[in-house]
Amino acid sequence: MAIKYKFPDNFWWGAATSGPQSEGRFHKAHRSVFDYWYDTEPEAFFNGVGPNVASNFYNDYVRDIALMKEVGLNSVRTSIQWTRLIKDFETAEVDPDGVRFYNAVIDEFLRQGIRPIMNLHHFDLPVELYEKYGGWASKRVVELFVIFAKKCFELFGDRVKDWTTFNEPMVVVEGEYLYQFHYPLLVDGKKACQVLYNLNLASAKAIQVFHASDCAAHGGRIGIVLNLTPAYPRSEDPADVAAAAFAEDFKNNSFLYPAIKGHFPEKLVETLKKDGVLWQATPEEGKIIAENTVDFLGVNYYQPFRAKARESELPNKLTWLPEKYFEQYHMPDARMNPYRGWEIYPKAIYDIACNVRDNLGNIPWYISENGMGVEGEEKYRNAEGAIDDDYRIDFIKEHLEWLHKGIEEGSNCFGYHLWTPIDCWSWMNAYKNRYGLIGLELTTQTKTIKKSGHWFKELATNNGF
Ligand code: BG6
Repeated sequence: MAIKYKFPDNFWWGAATSGPQSEGRFHKAHRSVFDYWYDTEPEAFFNGVGPNVASNFYNDYVRDIALMKEVGLNSVRTSIQWTRLIKDFETAEVDPDGVRFYNAVIDEFLRQGIRPIMNLHHFDLPVELYEKYGGWASKRVVELFVIFAKKCFELFGDRVKDWTTFNEPMVVVEGEYLYQFHYPLLVDGKKACQVLYNLNLASAKAIQVFHASDCAAHGGRIGIVLNLTPAYPRSEDPADVAAAAFAEDFKNNSFLYPAIKGHFPEKLVETLKKDGVLWQATPEEGKIIAENTVDFLGVNYYQPFRAKARESELPNKLTWLPEKYFEQYHMPDARMNPYRGWEIYPKAIYDIACNVRDNLGNIPWYISENGMGVEGEEKYRNAEGAIDDDYRIDFIKEHLEWLHKGIEEGSNCFGYHLWTPIDCWSWMNAYKNRYGLIGLELTTQTKTIKKSGHWFKELATNNGF
């Protein structure tokens, strides 16, 4: 078969998951904020399904990694759960079973010839650190995260070469402090801004420790994974354009700039200051952020953000909200994923590629997540018992075509990871929408390769399609 879209040599063809969404809570001494929320309010989760068993990766990792190999993955990202690895958060004393487990997982990936990318935080703050210090609003928690990160580098840095500090830190800001989809479900604009700053600081401090460690000396790299939602204005009207520019700064550049350029977007800082919601910061911290930028960038791309100038009253006047400066525009002819309610707009991947090339120093980057969550995939099960998910293959192809164009035009992209290898637990949506190349039958924990999994294997083998 002729290959129309050929990708660069050594391209990462892989998939991403996370500890809290795949492992299950087996043998974990501590609870994350999600574990706690599920224990106290199980009805908040789709069909009452929580993270207790998830996709049983804790028990099944050998078989699961073999399946990942079978679908052609040459690299996989997962995360180390703070609540599994660490026994005492104040001293970073480890839990021996956590160390055993992550060592075994890393060794198994390597044995199968799969490059493990280890992420340090995927929305899974220990709930004790929320109760004791106020979570990410506290700089004490930043310090505790750094000693956890250091422990990870010491324990696993001899084998793991690629690290990321945070997955989608903006989702912590939005979910926990603005839009109530992560515990503790607050709406507090000022705190949200402090959290945004503290997460950037925590990332820079972990990077500082990494760069001073043996990992860096042995060729290790560290980055951050950001969910980019490129902001497009409704029209060329200057008011719409200004609305989109603020959304772009708040949602994307507030993490992109510190991570890559070492400073926050100036206009955003000015606006937050004028509104009295700017974060508490010291000059020493500013220096740490300036001097400890990432080696590479991971981009999670799912959907664009369409903005218009505000037309209606702000829904909440009790606190500051970024929506003071924009309103979401629901484009009438948008192509939607109806199960997730997200717009499908593959061209944004190309726009991101050009933005990285032109405005972000063309730093090495990869698509660290992209994917399509579909409800009720059971109805696509064929006579042999596998799921025929042609829509997922088409979705991936469309995004890859635009990514390919970006690479051809000089963007420094080194890989594409799908969310996710094996259907996994998705926060409040639990197992409603499935994203995997490998399907999971939840009650029996049976795992079966989908049509997209076989297709992905060919894609990876041919380094293109
Ligand atoms: C990203 C996250 O937001 O998208 C994952 O990094 C998440 O943790 C994935 O599962 C899909 O989103 P959702 O909300 O449908 O699970």
